[in-house]
Amino acid sequence: MEATPPLPEALTERWCAAIARRHSRRSFQDRPLAPHERDAMAAHCRTFRPFSAVRVVLLAEAPESLFAHRRDDRPTMSAVGRAYMGIMGSYGRISGAPAALAFAGELAPGAADARPDATAQGADAPDASLRSASRSDDSDFAIEELIGYVGEAAVLEAAALGLDTCWVAGFFSPGLTESLIGAGTGEMVFAVSPLGHAADTLSGKEKYVFQMGRPKKRLKLEHIALGLFSKDWPHWAVAGVRAVQTAPSATNRQPWRFRLDGDTIVLASNGPDTYGVSKRIDCGIAMLHFELGVRQAGRGGHWEPPDTGERLDVARWRPTAASRLV
Ligand SMILES: Cc1cc2nc3c(=O)[nH]c(=O)nc-3n(C[C@H](O)[C@H](O)[C@H](O)COP(=O)(O)O)c2cc1C
Repeated sequence: MEATPPLPEALTERWCAAIARRHSRRSFQDRPLAPHERDAMAAHCRTFRPFSAVRVVLLAEAPESLFAHRRDDRPTMSAVGRAYMGIMGSYGRISGAPAALAFAGELAPGAADARPDATAQGADAPDASLRSASRSDDSDFAIEELIGYVGEAAVLEAAALGLDTCWVAGFFSPGLTESLIGAGTGEMVFAVSPLGHAADTLSGKEKYVFQMGRPKKRLKLEHIALGLFSKDWPHWAVAGVRAVQTAPSATNRQPWRFRLDGDTIVLASNGPDTYGVSKRIDCGIAMLHFELGVRQAGRGGHWEPPDTGERLDVARWRPTAASRLV
């Protein structure tokens, strides 16, 4: 597949509204999902499958140990991965979540050997080693980008249902999660999220470590997209970048950068991966937010693989013919 399929029209407004409501939450009320919440989330996971190589699985009951990283979980973890875990300690420990989402993707044959665990990417790690090759969907996007795109759709759907979430890619138990979802051969869980109703009051950790209760620091729009407010940028692209500004990213690093290239927009990462979680997951999240912003501005288009030869480029947004007119 060369391009992302169009998002269902009906979801644009719903998920755009959810962007404003979503914040990462880490302490949860100890009550199960209501049956209608569970059924709606399960239906979303079943039906929103734009790429066959990626799936989101609802774990209607999540053991707390899902969010406790076990160092022996991936026996092949590199020294860099172990050092990273040591430095970060229990960053973001999740408490009380009744349910969870697991974001799983199919690796191209051989990719698992090239990069055995999600925490092993050092500065010298092969970038985007997981491009499709012979994955079942034949997409030229890296699997992490698809994980970000499809995973964020589930996160926004949860927010639309009034549920709380938090992407967790660093500190969870991949082995336990893979066994709970019955992962197939070559399938790997890249991240999880707690799912439920956040505690009414912020925990000390949420308040002081994650600075919740005050606005999250966000990069200026002109930083994300150089020259954004010059007359060259079409209004729909400005709307797309605006919708990315409040997207979640690992450690709030916001690695997405946009540039105008003719009448298309290129999304790139701000540098190679230097530790644990691939920036390409964050960029996949940005792809979904950008697309929602463009569609809310009444314009269309699709993402395609960048084809620029630039290592850090992630995807190119190609507007429909009608959208090119500013
Ligand atoms: C790919 C990814 C991985 C993340 N991993 C973790 C994690 O392991 N632990 C955690 O507490 N938060 C994690 N987060 C949440 C970020 O810290 C959070 O999105 C960021 O601080 C911005 O805050 P916000 O989501 O409330 O807007 C992750 C987010 C993303 C997108």
